[in-house]
Parts: sequence; structure tokens; C-alpha cells
Amino acid sequence: MNARTIRKKFLDYFESKEHQVVRSSSIVPADDPTLYFTNAGMVQFKNVFVGEESRSYSRACTSQKCLRVSGKHNDLENVGRTSRHHTFFEMLGNFSFGDYFKKEAIGFAWEFLTKTMGLDETRFVATVFAGEDGIPGDDEAFDIWHKEMGLPKERVQRLGKADNFWAMGDTGPCGPCSELHYHQSDEVPCNEDKCLGAACECDRWVEVWNLVFMQFNRDDKGAFHPLKAPGVDTGMGLERLAAVLQGQLSTYDTDLLMPIIHRVADLAGKRYGDNGEDDVSLRVV
Ligand code: GLY
Repeated sequence: MNARTIRKKFLDYFESKEHQVVRSSSIVPADDPTLYFTNAGMVQFKNVFVGEESRSYSRACTSQKCLRVSGKHNDLENVGRTSRHHTFFEMLGNFSFGDYFKKEAIGFAWEFLTKTMGLDETRFVATVFAGEDGIPGDDEAFDIWHKEMGLPKERVQRLGKADNFWAMGDTGPCGPCSELHYHQSDEVPCNEDKCLGAACECDRWVEVWNLVFMQFNRDDKGAFHPLKAPGVDTGMGLERLAAVLQGQLSTYDTDLLMPIIHRVADLAGKRYGDNGEDDVSLRVV
């Protein structure tokens, strides 16, 4: 399935669930001195999440252009060296502003991936927040995955704050999250003695979707304040989903990026695949 079709199917799916389709905002956030660049789909809705702005809709979906080159979500050192990190990418997201919460968000994600996209459900592991720093673990999300979506307990992993608590930046809306990781192949190298599965840095597993349950606003002293209307913010890498659906282990091998890499290689007088270090440079460009 090509990326254009995937993007359309995502927006169509959420439109059919009463979400307003909203255009991608600029990668330079409007009126937000806390952020250089838009690093996630929720950035254009930040004030809606914290209750300072209201919209005519309480459900939205976007395909947001993102740049992760600075600040909290900074993948710069990994770009070109891994098969899945980018400076610029598109994030597919659905959002609830005080409307639905965990049960619906998990149900939508599961239905979209396994029914609309037709991916094999046995290749997914879900992660949930284990609890840390006085913030309780997310037993509710665990139970939804296990009891309502039918994932066996061993395919719902509990991880700490580094993996399963999401914040836009040092301040602002944040909350526990639940990620969906897809098993690509055990043939891919892993540096651990025993692969850590969804928690591993290797490419055997790829995180495709992050479902954030927005519950707090963090102030500049680091204190968490419960949001009046908790909501949902999700982010799925279009390039990652395209790789999975196109049977590619690397996002760079998808129809989104391969034509650009070949063009850059032509201009540089190189051939992609001939030399490892040159390939890193071509992916970086
Ligand atoms: N806002 C969700 C994410 O970036 O993963």
C-alpha cells in the first residue's frame, strides 16, 4: 500500500468516527516560545488540551509535518544510522479534547491497524506505564488491552517513565502513554544478549503508534496539575507504518523516501547500497 493511500485511509477512518480532519500546521509553532519546531501532532492543539482555547469540535485527526532536531524529542544523533529515525517526518494523529479517553483510543488504534490496515495482530506488543515518581501505573490501559482487545498478558509490557510517559516539552500537557510495537523479524541484529522486545533499541521491533492519555499540565517548576478535561493525543509515524505495510525493515526503503535518496545519490555521483558510510550520508540528506 503506498503512503498516499495509508494517509488517506487514516484520515478517512477517523472522519468516519466523527473526527474533524484538520490540516497540518506550520513546522514553526505559532506563538509558542517553549518550542523551536513542531515536534508532534498535538502542538497545534496545546492550548486546547490545557483548557485555554476551545474549538468547534472535540475530536480531530491530522497528518502533521514534524521536525525533531532540537529540544526534548531530539533524534538527531540517530538519523541516518538507524532504520527508523528522521529529522523530518509525518505524524498521523487522532485527538480527543475532553471527549473519549483510554477505552475508545485503544479500540480505534487496534481496529485501524488490524482491520483497516489488515496487519497480523499476533505481531503486536502493547506497552503501558508501569508507574514511577509517585505517578501510579496504568492498570486501566493494561486491562483494556488484555480483557477487551484480547492481547495475552505477556504481550502487554509495563515500562517506566522513559518509555511510557509522554510530554511535549519541559512544560505543558503530558500523561502516561501506551505504545504499539510491531515485530519485524528476528533475523535483524540485536546488541543485547537477549532482545528486550518492545523495550529494545534494535530494529527487530518497531514502535508504530503512541497513544498518550493527556492528564496533566506540568508547570515550569516541574509540578503536575491534573487537567480539567483529560484527553487523548496519539502519534503514529507515517513512514514507519508505510515500512511495515510495504514489507520493508527500514523507513528509508519506502515509497516516501527511496525516490529522494536515489535523486540525492544521482546528484552526488554515488550509488545507494555501495558503501555503508555514504549510505548514512545519503539518508541524512
Ligand atoms: N504526541 C505523541 C507522540 O509524539 O508520540
